[in-house]
Amino acid sequence: MINEKELIAGQVAHPLEPLTAREIELAVAILKQERSLTMLQRFVTVTLQEPPKEKVLAFRPGDPIEREAFAVILDNAEERTYEAVVSLAERKLKSWTYVPGVQPSVMLDEFMECEEIVKSDPGFLEALARRGITDASMVMVDPWSAGNFGVKEEEGLRLLRAMSWIKSSELDNGYAHPLEGIIAYVDMNKKQVLKVEDYGAVKIPSQDGQYRSDQVAARGGIKPLDIVQTDGPSFEVEGHHIAWQKWSIRFGFNPREGLILHTVGYEDKGRLRPILYRASLSEMVVPYGDPTPAHNRQNAFDAGEYGIGMLANSLELGCDCVGEIRYFDAFMTNSKGEVARIKNAVCLHEEDFGIGWKHTDWRTDHVEVRRSRRLVLSSISTVGNYEYGFFWYFYQDGTISFEVKLTGIMFTAAIEDGLKPKYGTLIAPNLNAPNHQHFFNVRMDISIDGMSNSVYEVHTEAEPPGPDNPYGNAFYAKSTLLETESQAVRDIDLASARAWKFVNPSVKNAVGEPVGYKLVYGENCLPFAHPESSLLKRAGFVKHHLWVTPYDPKEKYAAGDYPNQHPGGAGLPSYVAADRDIADRDIVVWYTMGHHHIPRPEDWPVMPTAYIGFSLKPNGFFDYSPSLDVPRTEHKLSHCGNADAAASTASSCGGSSGTSSCGH
Ligand code: CU
Repeated sequence: MINEKELIAGQVAHPLEPLTAREIELAVAILKQERSLTMLQRFVTVTLQEPPKEKVLAFRPGDPIEREAFAVILDNAEERTYEAVVSLAERKLKSWTYVPGVQPSVMLDEFMECEEIVKSDPGFLEALARRGITDASMVMVDPWSAGNFGVKEEEGLRLLRAMSWIKSSELDNGYAHPLEGIIAYVDMNKKQVLKVEDYGAVKIPSQDGQYRSDQVAARGGIKPLDIVQTDGPSFEVEGHHIAWQKWSIRFGFNPREGLILHTVGYEDKGRLRPILYRASLSEMVVPYGDPTPAHNRQNAFDAGEYGIGMLANSLELGCDCVGEIRYFDAFMTNSKGEVARIKNAVCLHEEDFGIGWKHTDWRTDHVEVRRSRRLVLSSISTVGNYEYGFFWYFYQDGTISFEVKLTGIMFTAAIEDGLKPKYGTLIAPNLNAPNHQHFFNVRMDISIDGMSNSVYEVHTEAEPPGPDNPYGNAFYAKSTLLETESQAVRDIDLASARAWKFVNPSVKNAVGEPVGYKLVYGENCLPFAHPESSLLKRAGFVKHHLWVTPYDPKEKYAAGDYPNQHPGGAGLPSYVAADRDIADRDIVVWYTMGHHHIPRPEDWPVMPTAYIGFSLKPNGFFDYSPSLDVPRTEHKLSHCGNADAAASTASSCGGSSGTSSCGH
C-alpha cells in the first residue's frame, strides 16, 4: 500500500527540478500497484516527465506544479517494453504504452547478472579450460551491447555480448590480460548464455598494467597547490538553480543523459536574456575499427544503450574537483524500482582560467588586466573500462563551453608474439589496443533572446585579385541563411573557415544586426566505418557535424529513443527527413564531435586525459565586451610572480600606478 503521508511529493520550487527520491518512490509504488508489477517487470528508468515548454516558460514562483514521472519498464517474462507516465499530483497512472520491437538500455543490475551468468556457463568454462584456466574467480566479464547485424537467431532477443580478461591478483588491472577470442552471447530476458563463440586462444599478455597509488612509486618534488576561497564561492544555489555573477542556470540530471542544462540566461542591462532552453549529451557512440571476428561487432552507444547518468561516479572520495565545491546527489532507480542514490554525482565550483583580458598602454605604462573565472558544472561516468568527464563551463564574457574529458583504460585485445596489429597499436608486449573513435552529440534547444531563432552559415571568401584587390590580400565573411533541415546538415570546412551562427532575427544589437551566438568548434573528425555498415545505419548522426531541426518535444536523441539493438535509421536522419523549415522559429541545434583515437603506448595503462569540446560564443549578442565590468583581482595570498611581493600578504593585479606587483 502507498503510505500517503510518507510519500507526499517533495515540495519542489520549479517544474524542472529533477524527481526527488520521494517522488521516485511514489511513482514506483503507483506503477507497482496499478499494474500489479512483480520482480519480472523491471524498472529501466524513472525520470521527470518534463512539462511542456510553454508551461515552464509561463511558470512564476509560487505557481502550482503538476509533477509527472516517465518510466520505462522491461517485462522479462513477456519480453516486452512499456512506457508509463505517472501523475504524482493525482497519484495515478496516466498512460501505459507497449513499445513494440525495441530493447531499452542495459540496466546496471544486468552488468552484474551478465558476468554471473557467463561465469557459470559450462561452454564458457570450457573455453577458459582451453586456455589453461580452471579457476574463473579472477576472470572479469564485461558486457557489451550486441548491436544489430541482421542475424536471424538474434531477432527479438535481449542480448549482451560479453568479453573477458583475467586478473593476476585481486588488485590487478585485468585489462592487461585479455582472454582473446571468446565471445559469450547472453539472453538477458531468459538469463542464460545463448552461445559461446571461440575464435581460438591467443597467448595471454603477461605484463601487468598497474596504476594504483599502492603499486606505482610516486615522483617527488611536488609542493601543495591549494585553491583557497576564504570568503567562499561566488555562486548561489537554490535547488537546482545556480546564480553566478550575471549567469542564471538551471540544471538537471537523469540516468540517460547525465547532466542537463535548462533555461540558461545572462543578465544584461538589468534584463535576464535567455540563451539556451535546454542542452544535454543526446547520444554518444564509440565505433571500433578491428575487422577480426572477435571484434568486428564492437561499438558502444554509451548514452542510449547504457545510460551515461546511471554510470556516474560518486565524487565523494576523489579529487575530481578542487576549491570550494558544492556537490549534488542524483536519484534514480535500480531495476527493482528501489531508489538508487548517487551521492555527489554533480560537482559545482569556480576555477581561475588565466587571463581574461589585458592591455598595457606602452606610452603611460598603465596596465589593465583581469583574471578570467569560470563556473564549472561537471560529472564523471565510468563505462566499463573507460571514463568520461562531462563539463559545462560558463565564462564572464558570455561564453558557454562543453568539454568531454576522456580517460580511464583503453579496450584491450591480445596478439601473438612477433605480430603487429594493423587495426590497432601494440601498447605493451602481446597487448593490442584497437583503433576507435568517440563521437558525442550535444542537443541544444537554443533560445537566443527568445524562442524564434535562425541559423546562418558563415564562410570566408578570398576576393579575387583585381582593381578592388590589387595586392590580393582581401577576404570577407559571407552569411547564408539555412532555411530547411536538409540545408542545415553540414560539416566543418577549414578551407572556408566555415562557422555557424544562431541569431534572433527580431532582436537587433547596437549596430543594427540580429543578436547571436556562434558555435566555435574544437577537435573533430569524420567516421571511417563504411556508409553501408550497421554502425552508420544506427549512428547516422556521426556522418555530419551540424544538424538543425524545428523543436519537437518527441525528438530528443540523436540515435533515436531506443538505440539498443536497433536496426538503424532512427534519430537525426529520420528527424530531418521531412525537410521542415527551420528559419525564424523555435529550433534545436545538434552538434556532433568526434575524438579519433589511434592508441599510443602512452595511453596505457591509464590514459592521460584527452579533451574534446566546443563553445557557444556571443557574436553580436552584446553591444560590447560583457567582461569589461569584471573587477580587478585583489589577491590576499598569492604573489603575482614578483619577488618583491613575496613579503607582502596583499598584492593587487593591474593597478593604475604602474607599480603593482604583477602585470608587467
Ligand atoms: Cu579512446
